[in-house]
Amino acid sequence: MALTTPPAQVAIIGGGLAGLTLALALYDLNISSTVYEARSEDFDQGGGVMLSPNALRVLDSVGVYKRVRDKSLQFDVLTFKDGQDQTTDEYYFGSEKLYGYHAIRIMRKELQDEMKAMLRERHIPIHYDSKLTSITSDGPDRVEFAFANGQVASAPLVIGADGIHSTVRGTFLPEAKPIYAGFMGINSVVQRSRLRIPDGYKLPATVMAKPGAFLLVPQKPDGSELFIGSQRRFPELDSAGWEALRKDKQKLYDMLQENKTDWPDVVQSALEATPVDRMGFWAFYGIPPLASWLSESKRIILVGDAAHAIPPTAGQGANQAFEDVRALATLLSKLSPDAPLDKAAAQWQAYRQDRIKKVLDLTQQMNAKRLPESERAKLPPGAIWSDQSLTRGDGGELRWLYDPDLAQEAEKWVQELQQAAH
Ligand SMILES: Cc1cc2nc3c(=O)[nH]c(=O)nc-3n(C[C@H](O)[C@H](O)[C@H](O)COP(=O)(O)OP(=O)(O)OC[C@H]3O[C@@H](n4cnc5c(N)ncnc54)[C@H](O)[C@@H]3O)c2cc1C
Ligand SMILES: *[C@@H]1O[C@H](CO)[C@@H](O)[C@H](O)[C@H]1NC(C)=O
Ligand SMILES: *[C@@H]1O[C@H](CO)[C@@H](O)[C@H](O)[C@H]1NC(C)=O
Repeated sequence: MALTTPPAQVAIIGGGLAGLTLALALYDLNISSTVYEARSEDFDQGGGVMLSPNALRVLDSVGVYKRVRDKSLQFDVLTFKDGQDQTTDEYYFGSEKLYGYHAIRIMRKELQDEMKAMLRERHIPIHYDSKLTSITSDGPDRVEFAFANGQVASAPLVIGADGIHSTVRGTFLPEAKPIYAGFMGINSVVQRSRLRIPDGYKLPATVMAKPGAFLLVPQKPDGSELFIGSQRRFPELDSAGWEALRKDKQKLYDMLQENKTDWPDVVQSALEATPVDRMGFWAFYGIPPLASWLSESKRIILVGDAAHAIPPTAGQGANQAFEDVRALATLLSKLSPDAPLDKAAAQWQAYRQDRIKKVLDLTQQMNAKRLPESERAKLPPGAIWSDQSLTRGDGGELRWLYDPDLAQEAEKWVQELQQAAH
């Protein structure tokens, strides 16, 4: 039986960005939830995330934005630079004037810690060291599930917010596996003071030169630190291979340093300042489009990376996860006999899948833009993202991406269903 009233209780599997945000959004709507997180409370995955207005509108709606704004670095555009330090393009990642919010970069741990503090203040339970291993029964009225630590639990509705390798997804879509996009990003962190940055050179920047693209992205509120790195084609490894590479910081360092003299001086200065011990990488995996984000009983719903992990070149992974949960929370709070979960969730999924497809198209164009010169030259027109004229001035070519208010969208779907029922 599809739910025809807001659920009495929601079990959220995964206390990452999507899961924690969902718990806060549900709380505001008087829906109680419990979060189950595989890792321990103080786990630090490291790194930072860039968030655009579409996501910041969501974080604002649950009270997170104002608590993290001062811990983050604000910016508007990502500048594309050529080998001669000239600006060739600007990509708006945010703009208070155009889209209501500046973009921000924030350390993931600081963002999650703030969200966890908010859960504590609201007495929303979160169980750490609780790795879901199986769904023991799905429907018709309840879902039962079990954890590696022996714990078992049940709820009328389960949300799989457990990331790209989602166990929840595996219980009803066992064939859906992450697919490697053929690229990896190799990165590190450097002190800005060590770089030779030309006068008037605007950061964050993507520097385009013969070997491809090199990122220079300030982080920490004062921008004293830079996340740096480049993206390249790389053959897929198995999980033991990736693990070994993650530990082999010297190898990652040597890979990053390859063809150093083909880069402009500002990049060379970043390479000279790069500490070996901060080396990391990101292998670009994505989840192929899924037929459904809901289980047959409609009592298990996937959100965030579990539903649609995407490669990072348009920087929308987390941003899209926030959109999912904002819309879903509002939808759940408005369930009624006229707008039952199966129909409401179908609207949600169709809208969300359409957006993900558009983001993937944009990601592909951005990926092409970051290829080495020789490869870019072979691509047909339109394959490479370029819209200098459109994002400048009063443009706002990315309004389709940054403008939607996902709570409002969800309210519209519910109204449409109610009208159709009468
Ligand atoms: C290096 C890096 C940089 C990135 N930068 C950006 C960026 O700048 N902007 C952007 O938009 N996106 C970025 N992303 C992508 C972004 O991190 C993801 O899209 C986002 O974290 C997805 O959120 P999520 O909550 O769906 O999944 P996750 O954040 O992966 O959270 C999943 C959670 O579920 C838990 N979990 C997993 N399995 C289980 C289980 N069986 N039981 C219980 N819990 C479980 C995990 O421990 C984790 O806490 C970046 C990703 C990486 C790797
Ligand atoms: C939640 O419940 C409180 C107290 O009963 C009520 O004042 C508030 O309006 C409710 N909020 C929503 C969104 O239903
Ligand atoms: C370095 O340059 C050589 C010669 O141009 C090229 O074959 C190789 O792919 C380059 N490596 C990287 C990582 O760009």
